[in-house]
Amino acid sequence: MREYPSERVDVRSDTVTQPTAAMRSVMEAAKVGDDVLGDDPTVIELQNRLAKMFGKEAALFVASGTMANAIALRTHTSPGDEIVCDKTAHIYKYEGGGYAALCGASISLVDGEGGIMTAEQVKKAIRKAEGSGSHYPDGTLVCVENTSNLGGGACYSQEALDEIAAVAKENGCATHIDGARIFNASIATGVDVARMCRDYDSVSICLSKGLGAPVGSVLVGSREFINKAHRWRKMFGGGWRQAGVLAAAGLHAIDHHIERLAEDHSRARVVAEAIDAMENFSVDLDAVQSNLVYVNCKIPASEVVVSLAEHGIDMFDLPYNRVRVAIHLHITDEDVERIIAAFAAQ
Ligand SMILES: Cc1ncc(COP(=O)(O)O)c(C=O)c1O
Repeated sequence: MREYPSERVDVRSDTVTQPTAAMRSVMEAAKVGDDVLGDDPTVIELQNRLAKMFGKEAALFVASGTMANAIALRTHTSPGDEIVCDKTAHIYKYEGGGYAALCGASISLVDGEGGIMTAEQVKKAIRKAEGSGSHYPDGTLVCVENTSNLGGGACYSQEALDEIAAVAKENGCATHIDGARIFNASIATGVDVARMCRDYDSVSICLSKGLGAPVGSVLVGSREFINKAHRWRKMFGGGWRQAGVLAAAGLHAIDHHIERLAEDHSRARVVAEAIDAMENFSVDLDAVQSNLVYVNCKIPASEVVVSLAEHGIDMFDLPYNRVRVAIHLHITDEDVERIIAAFAAQ
């Protein structure tokens, strides 16, 4: 689907989407109030819808995925605590060190496989102050990212998610899912989000990635958790007023843009298989389970990016001589052909 004719195929990220005409019209018509005062009806509706979908008591609409994660981490931890996550986790690599600056927490990294941790690894990574003669920080939170971005869009199995949550609970840790692409995971695995997140205390859900809303993420959890999170949102400067204009886009996205993620996944598959068959590139096809395709380049990735741009394809040059194709709601079958042809010309 592309309503914005463009000469370029922008696959830098699934965050580059523009609100569709239908989305813009619901935004324009949205009933709004003052969300800091708690009376914006569209924000309330979005929060209630997502809390229900995820089988949680309450939800909080915030500005970004980073803010949702930061608020969750801060709500779950106290200074001196430690957070367990995979070595590729977005909260560790790309959120400005918020876990340290905003929470005063350290991180215990897990050497997962393609961004996916096992319960056994999580168990080993949890350190407790008690019994360590006060040498260790206090491991109090386990954070799982599903799908795993740097893991190539790979999804956790339900069994692994349940086992990790169980190990966390047995060891006195709260559990958070960075669900920036949780609906991609749900569509890819066929597991309903409420079941997927059943044993997790909180989930951050992005509306502005595959779902195509211009702004916004929603944090879900228990009423008590969300009440505390609400205060942290305020302290982080995230209280907003007529946010219903943005919440309307989120409601439209959850009504119209979830099922269609399957199309993004099949286009990503087509791209991945075609590129993997080329001499200058390889793709870990097992990791391609959703909308992201990380391509290993046998020629310099920086040159590939410049040359692809000349073919009208926009992409980032990433560490380890890789580039990423992020398929999203504006990418058509024709664009897929252009992407493949541009790679073939390298
Ligand atoms: C897995 C993951 N979590 C969180 C975020 C942060 O989202 P935002 O860019 O809205 O802050 C991203 C962004 O790409 C992400 O990929």
